[in-house]
Amino acid sequence: MVKKKQALGWIEWLIGWMYVTYELLFQRTKTSHLQNPLELPSLNDLTCIVTGTTSGIGKEIARQLAEAGAHVVMAVRNRKTANELIDQWCSSWAGILLNVEVMELDLLSLDSVVGFANTWNARLEPLHVLINNAGIFSIGETQKFSKDGFEEHLQVNHLAPALLSVLLLPSLIKGSTSRIINVNSVISSIRIKGLSICIIATNNCFHVSPMRPWLNAKGILKAQMHYVGFVDTEDMNTVSGKRKYSSLLGYTNSKLAQVMFSSVLHKRPPVESGVNVMCVSPGIVHTNVARDLPRIVQAAYHLIPYFLFSPQEGARSALFAATDPQIPEYCESLKTDEWPFCAFISQGCHPTNPSKEAHSVETSFEVWEKTLEMIGLPSDAVERLIEGKEVRCRYGTGKD
Ligand SMILES: NC(=O)c1ccc[n+]([C@@H]2O[C@H](COP(=O)([O-])OP(=O)(O)OC[C@H]3O[C@@H](n4cnc5c(N)ncnc54)[C@H](OP(=O)(O)O)[C@@H]3O)[C@@H](O)[C@H]2O)c1
Repeated sequence: MVKKKQALGWIEWLIGWMYVTYELLFQRTKTSHLQNPLELPSLNDLTCIVTGTTSGIGKEIARQLAEAGAHVVMAVRNRKTANELIDQWCSSWAGILLNVEVMELDLLSLDSVVGFANTWNARLEPLHVLINNAGIFSIGETQKFSKDGFEEHLQVNHLAPALLSVLLLPSLIKGSTSRIINVNSVISSIRIKGLSICIIATNNCFHVSPMRPWLNAKGILKAQMHYVGFVDTEDMNTVSGKRKYSSLLGYTNSKLAQVMFSSVLHKRPPVESGVNVMCVSPGIVHTNVARDLPRIVQAAYHLIPYFLFSPQEGARSALFAATDPQIPEYCESLKTDEWPFCAFISQGCHPTNPSKEAHSVETSFEVWEKTLEMIGLPSDAVERLIEGKEVRCRYGTGKD
């Protein structure tokens, strides 16, 4: 019997770290073709829910979407800060009212996620874009659990966004062609050959090659670099004691689990449903994500500003994924193809491959099943929602 992999080998881990360092040093050079800020088309007909918009990348995403005319829902745990931001944005636009509203969402509570989704779905309005941006990286902190019993990185970065995405499917179907965008982390930026992208002065154009993208991607998998995440599906909550917990382990595992879950979710709704799922990497960005770093490391972080993206630069990949007109065509081609993964858009707004670990189909299905179990949804939740049937969740108002 083949022994199940328990962790990344040290060579894989080392290569992963070398890759992250490479990304940090060269991300600016590699994205020099992009405008900053990214030029957006008029978005008057678009309704977008963006989580975690009180700081960093999410704040930029929400502001830029709203300024381009979209109806933006800021899904936040701190309503006061969000309302102050809206006032600031409106006053910098000489009092012009932007179409932005605030709704409360605390990802550390799965009841809150269900409450949010129920409130939104009850409006019976279409939803065009869901951006799961909110995330935590509590560097150096000891292991903490939410009141739902899940390790906090796993809950905020993976479980809660997964629950939100599934429960909002009825609204996303109403808004189809719609997009679920997960702000993930540097995994790999090996560009998929045959897909090219150009961002020019006034418009974005995304040329999808007639060659099937999965064939091209398959050809370069062997050269793939790995990131440092590893999901142990028998211990996703890191409670068995098999592995020593660190915040890095919690963070990287949660981000890898999100890619794996997204790949399965992407394939579930048929093309006709018009719902597309993708992950994006924002790059390495100077935000509040470093607020929990020890003072000395924070000082070092501030010493390397040239290499770090500003939040405006970090917002580009998510904004691109949310607005580029050819993204749905690309996602649909992946959906109908044998390529078993969802789209991954790099910080340079290229389609790219996630890490080698993320390419394990077997583990992705295990992550899918375990995740549904943890978030209290039945295994056929997506199929039922697509058919317009009701789904009961263990959390929120549907509590048994
Ligand atoms: N910065 C980077 O270099 C980098 C690199 C790769 C990926 N990312 C990803 O990018 C995303 C945005 O991060 P950022 O760098 O912009 O960090 P940030 O400045 O710390 O912003 C994180 C946002 O998430 C919100 N949030 C945290 N916990 C929440 C909860 N329980 N419920 C609801 N909202 C919550 C925060 O709200 P509060 O203001 O209420 O705390 C804040 O608005 C994250 O998913 C992160 O993992 C960042």
